Amino acid sequence: MRIWAHRGCSLRYPENTLSAFRAAAEIPGLAGIETDVQMAKDGELIVLHDEKVDRTTNGTGWVKDFTLSEIQALSVDVKDGGAPEHIPTLEEVLDVLAPYMKNGLKLNIELKNSKVQYPGMEARAIATVGSYGVLRQTVWSSFYAKSLSIVRSFLPDAEIGILDIKASDCLYKMKGGCGADVIHPYAKAMDVTAAEVSGLTVRGWLTEKLYPAEKTEEALDLEALEKSGVTDVFMNEPERFL
Ligand code: G3P
Ligand code: CA
Repeated sequence: MRIWAHRGCSLRYPENTLSAFRAAAEIPGLAGIETDVQMAKDGELIVLHDEKVDRTTNGTGWVKDFTLSEIQALSVDVKDGGAPEHIPTLEEVLDVLAPYMKNGLKLNIELKNSKVQYPGMEARAIATVGSYGVLRQTVWSSFYAKSLSIVRSFLPDAEIGILDIKASDCLYKMKGGCGADVIHPYAKAMDVTAAEVSGLTVRGWLTEKLYPAEKTEEALDLEALEKSGVTDVFMNEPERFL
């Protein structure tokens, strides 16, 4: 089973921050890091899970309504005594991760464009990753099949994962021709047989416990997941399982 850090080490550090990514990148044996990209009002790509800044920062409002400098002036919520954090740009994340990626670590960029449309996001993200020379170590994913078709049109050889909750819905969207070659279902929604996904990379995701949760994730039966056909798992506490 290949283990990935979901939004970085997002149980011990604020999700999708440079601290969370630095900690993840240092974990021996980690397959890769998953992250989420949104687009600011001026077209700049930032790394944040939600379409709004409310849940994780001291601000309120939609990412699409902030310029980059406005969004970077916000403070990410941290525990008392925790180091200050800001919402990073994709470039800032690649500044940290590209050296690790050149040594084999993968980065999964989830294009968060299924709720808010961000025209041109795919081309911009690809150009940014390309400028760091790490396109081969990057996996692209989205819940939005059309976005993946655009990525595929730019990158014929890229690894592209279609996201959904149920594995059956991932397969349905993949077969619809979005250009995906792997599937990213919720790890506990393997509603297909292992035979149906045999030979396919199946990256199951888990989201349960996030920073600042005090308790660790529940016991996870990786063997059962593997038997269900999952080949990789995204989790918030990869350091505990590796
Ligand atoms: O990419 C896997 C997973 O992150 C998708 O769900 O909501 O955590 O972005 P979410
Ligand atoms: Ca995600």
